[in-house]
Amino acid sequence: MPIQWFPGHMHATRKAIAERMPEIDVVIELLDARLPGSSANPLLAELTRGKPALKVLNKQDLADPQQTAAWLAHYQAQAGTRALALDASDTAPARRLIAACRELAPLRGGMVKPMRVLICGIPNVGKSTLVNTLRGGKRAAKTGDEAGITKVEQRIVLADDFYLYDTPGMLWPRIAIEASGYLLAASGAVGHNAYDDEEVALALLVQMLRHHADRLQARYKLGDLAGLNDEAVLAEIGRKRAPLLPGGRPHMQKAAEIAIHDFRSGAWGPVTLETLEEFKQWEAQAKLLDAEREARRAARSHKKKKLPQRGQGGDDGGGVG
Ligand code: G4P
Repeated sequence: MPIQWFPGHMHATRKAIAERMPEIDVVIELLDARLPGSSANPLLAELTRGKPALKVLNKQDLADPQQTAAWLAHYQAQAGTRALALDASDTAPARRLIAACRELAPLRGGMVKPMRVLICGIPNVGKSTLVNTLRGGKRAAKTGDEAGITKVEQRIVLADDFYLYDTPGMLWPRIAIEASGYLLAASGAVGHNAYDDEEVALALLVQMLRHHADRLQARYKLGDLAGLNDEAVLAEIGRKRAPLLPGGRPHMQKAAEIAIHDFRSGAWGPVTLETLEEFKQWEAQAKLLDAEREARRAARSHKKKKLPQRGQGGDDGGGVG
């Protein structure tokens, strides 16, 4: 079943970002370099339309460098947009962020017109880690691998004339694309009660078999992968890494937990789960499905309107008991 996740706090975040937006010169969106398209939030694109944007592909150490380069080139080609890749090993990321923002808004700067930058990102993308580094290691923002740690807005002074605002509240992912939902869950951006480990692990393995089959082979000593599908690989992981169930069956739940953990911790080596072309196809399919859903909804409401309403010209009186 596709992941349905609608945390209730999005409204507050949307309001806070919308209110802050008129004073913001550049918006930094942190993306997960292993799933750049899926980890972008369409709501943010709506709220920040027209503002110069800096896309930061974070956790680049965990991503396939070739794919990261392709995604960076894609963003760099967009108007009013710059992109760079980063990871937590960069102990002084401020210089690159400041330079990119100054390129995007060259008229801002100096004490009279200081640069005001908003930093946003969905849970677990590494925002608190980056903000902590930018604050000089002072751990004001909490880090953790479960979605849902809320915070209040902070202002970080990166230079005398450069202010960075950390998004108040949580920018939850908006899951419009089914495949993205699974990858977001795998990355830790979605609350654990919203998904099934086995489904997520299988979706993860589908993408891994497509793009990085050799990594699975190496990690789990799988031998020849020809003819092995996602389920067969998950079963193999279970056989190799978890105690067997009665009858020698692999423990699929344990295997799923191991696969997700190995992905999150980078045990597979640098992997990127989605290519640009693939993500564009997913987007197009999701739009088509949305349009079909909308057409069905319109047809239903048209049909309802045609039926006589209770209490309108009927003889049921319309009264209450
Ligand atoms: P968030 O505020 O966006 O929710 O994310 P947060 O900084 O809490 O980071 C989520 C997890 O990702 C943390 O791991 C953090 O260490 C890790 N992380 C952040 N940036 C990078 C990066 O560039 N590369 C890699 N490899 N990992 C990164 P954790 O296991 O949940 O917590 P901890 O072990 O750091 O305590």
